[in-house]
Amino acid sequence: MGEFAGKTVLVTGAAQGIGQAIAEAFRAEGATVLGLDRQAGATEITFDLSEVSGIHALIDGLETCPDVLVNAAGICHTRRMLDIDLPSFEQTFRINVTAAFALMQATAARLIREGRTGCVINIASNSGFVPKLEQADYGASKAALVSLTRSAALSLGPSGIRVNAIAPGIIDTPLTQSIAVQRGEVRGVAPEETLRPVIANLPLGRMGQPEEIAQMAVFLASARAAYITGQTILVDGGQWMR
Ligand SMILES: NC(=O)c1ccc[n+]([C@@H]2O[C@H](COP(=O)([O-])OP(=O)(O)OC[C@H]3O[C@@H](n4cnc5c(N)ncnc54)[C@H](O)[C@@H]3O)[C@@H](O)[C@H]2O)c1
Repeated sequence: MGEFAGKTVLVTGAAQGIGQAIAEAFRAEGATVLGLDRQAGATEITFDLSEVSGIHALIDGLETCPDVLVNAAGICHTRRMLDIDLPSFEQTFRINVTAAFALMQATAARLIREGRTGCVINIASNSGFVPKLEQADYGASKAALVSLTRSAALSLGPSGIRVNAIAPGIIDTPLTQSIAVQRGEVRGVAPEETLRPVIANLPLGRMGQPEEIAQMAVFLASARAAYITGQTILVDGGQWMR
């Protein structure tokens, strides 16, 4: 019997990377995990979060409303600011902000209707605090998610729903590899040359592992974090100091 036995946890972006590690960590603590991803067959729920208008029906249609919602799905186009076209800017906001907002809204509304409490964890990024070259739209979307985390915590606290976020630094996932490839193309260098100097400059001198983000997610959802809400916790190996 783990700490989350009897609890249902919905994790978006659970097919790979950080979302997958978070889903596994909650399973290890005894939770019933509903993974959601757009990759068909990879998780319990196949859903493309760009279909934002379907999100309320999705949550209302679940047999059990999740006690814990983890918004881990996210996308990042990597290109120079002057090359970001408006449709891809809007797509970044649609997945990283609008879908996360609709999931929070639908989950909280159902929990309140059912007289239950719960919590939300949003996976933001340290790019939401410190701008990174070639990530103007992504950084802005993550800053918006940090702000929404605070607004939701303020609104939902009286209903016993805590809302927090995690801001990872550079984590060893498929997204990080694809960003390195895209950056390499933009800068005309090999992908590893976009990562190597940044990692060497990190206080802890290495990339983070998805499990290290998952441990923070489990902590924030646990009773040990019962008095924490509206926070965004940096888990970035000290990158913010560089
Ligand atoms: N990897 C990092 O270094 C890093 C750093 C800071 C923040 N983050 C954030 O952490 C989260 C997870 O990142 P990751 O590195 O694991 O990424 P990833 O690309 O490896 O995994 C993301 C998952 O989300 C899913 N997804 C994307 N768009 C979706 C959609 N429209 N509908 C449903 N599912 C969708 C993908 O299919 C994938 O399985 C993201 O929000 C990302 O912005 C990652």
